[in-house]
Amino acid sequence: MAETTYDVVIIGGGPGGYNAAIRAGQLGLKAACVEKRGTLGGTCLNVGCMPSKALLHASELFAAANGEFAKLGIEVSPKLNLGQMMAQKDESVTALTKGIEFLFKKNKVDWVKGAGKIAGPGKVEVTGEDGKVTTLAAKNIVIATGSEPSRLPGVEVDQQRIVDSTGALALPEVPKKLVVIGAGIIGLELGSVWRRLGAEVTVVEFLDRITPGMDAETAKTFQRALTKQGMVFKLGAKVTGAKTSKKGVTLTVEPVAGGAAETLEADYVLLAIGRRPYTEGLGLESVGVTPNARGVIETDHFKTSAPGVWAIGDVIPGPMLAHKAEEDGVACIEMIAGKWGHVDYDLVPSVVYTSPEVAWVGKTEEELKAAGRAYKTGKFPFTANSRAKINHETEGFVKVLADAATDEVLGVHMIGPSVSEMIGEYCVAMAFRAASEDVARTCHPHPTRSEALRQAAMGVEGWTMQA
Ligand code: FAD
Ligand code: NAI
Repeated sequence: MAETTYDVVIIGGGPGGYNAAIRAGQLGLKAACVEKRGTLGGTCLNVGCMPSKALLHASELFAAANGEFAKLGIEVSPKLNLGQMMAQKDESVTALTKGIEFLFKKNKVDWVKGAGKIAGPGKVEVTGEDGKVTTLAAKNIVIATGSEPSRLPGVEVDQQRIVDSTGALALPEVPKKLVVIGAGIIGLELGSVWRRLGAEVTVVEFLDRITPGMDAETAKTFQRALTKQGMVFKLGAKVTGAKTSKKGVTLTVEPVAGGAAETLEADYVLLAIGRRPYTEGLGLESVGVTPNARGVIETDHFKTSAPGVWAIGDVIPGPMLAHKAEEDGVACIEMIAGKWGHVDYDLVPSVVYTSPEVAWVGKTEEELKAAGRAYKTGKFPFTANSRAKINHETEGFVKVLADAATDEVLGVHMIGPSVSEMIGEYCVAMAFRAASEDVARTCHPHPTRSEALRQAAMGVEGWTMQA
């Protein structure tokens, strides 16, 4: 017997689910969020964005103390305290997940602890840790169950020697040799963390390039930068087997194009070949929703094929990013509340938080060429930016792609320090459908790295001024 009828029951308390829940509370809807992990925040806060950025920040400072500091006249002899580095990461994560609990209370959202299962139209069963089952009645159900790491046959993740991203965020020691399978965002971010802390890192990638989806010229520059830091890349290679012992792992690696297999020894292996939607035990069959062959729930403006059942975030098509899940969550709830919810998927930015960082929004050159769209390019290197010069951080560039006829900005690609903080400027400009000349004629503060954003836009117009 159902006790309360909710306007909306959200299954999953990650960036999709918690933002949906908070927005529902703000709009006066009676909302519950079902989350089976002991804390709110989902993958992002618990084992994703936040802990990885905590380790990236700390390890970047460690590497700087071991390197660039001396050039600036600061002499130190840094010593790694891995336990403390992990502890400060865990403390930050706890503070963040508690923050979501606070926001739930503030917005009158019920956090129903346990595993949620759809048990028919308008019905969600929640099994608590003690095995007790509660039934929630819901006018609307929102699936926000996120994703999990993809597996590779023959490479069994044991979280001891062969780890996924969750294991790689909590290794008990700095590996001597770390092999990363997959040169995607997780592999390169977490590979960077352990490289900076002293590990020898080899990245094995199936394709003949790193970071598919990134503008190819930017990806090449990125690979060069990481190689300079000591990361070794084996491109066009596939791992076909792994043998684990107490001391480490022996991997068999074969060229994709055919040829002799080789073995790679590692004390730890990070498997990071992508993520897949997570819908295990969700009871989708009870409402007739069938994920596609890749496990993705297809939606039409967040509506699944079942009336009153919606889906958002990593479990639906689109980039598996926290800010995209957040956009989905807010728009979905606004639609449930009878308002106009909207997400512009062409303007979801991407960032790789390595050093240098890579950030982009909109189309790549490859996409524009494939679409037959005529475009102009403006590119500005950080070597010509005065702030970058005085900081001795001149690696990278900003590249702006604009429509050849209308000058509308179609894509922006940046590599260099702090570009994660600068891409938002172009997100706003592009949301207002700015021409590159609009950016080129906007005064930017001097001396800042952001001047490179303007100079690249001036480059499209053909009047870049060197700093
Ligand atoms: P999730 O965050 O996965 O949340 C889903 C939640 O649902 C989970 O808490 C799960 O426990 C819960 N759940 C699942 N099934 C049930 C059930 N039946 N009942 C109850 N609860 C259930 N993205 C970025 O934008 N920036 C980054 O810097 C970034 N870094 C990342 C680093 C790593 C290492 C990883 C792994 C991911 C990173 N991501 C990043 C991706 C980001 O974490 C995801 O895109 C985002 O968390 C997706 O949000 P979501 O709400 O769809 O799902
Ligand atoms: P990914 O899709 O970014 O990269 C996976 C890589 O593995 C690809 O280059 C792919 O070609 C390669 N690959 C696939 N199968 C392989 C095989 N058998 N052998 C060798 N290589 C293989 O996936 P990743 O890095 O696991 O990250 C998953 C998702 O998490 C990202 O796509 C992103 O959406 C999200 N994420 C976002 C972050 C951010 O925004 N900064 C940080 C970390 C994760």
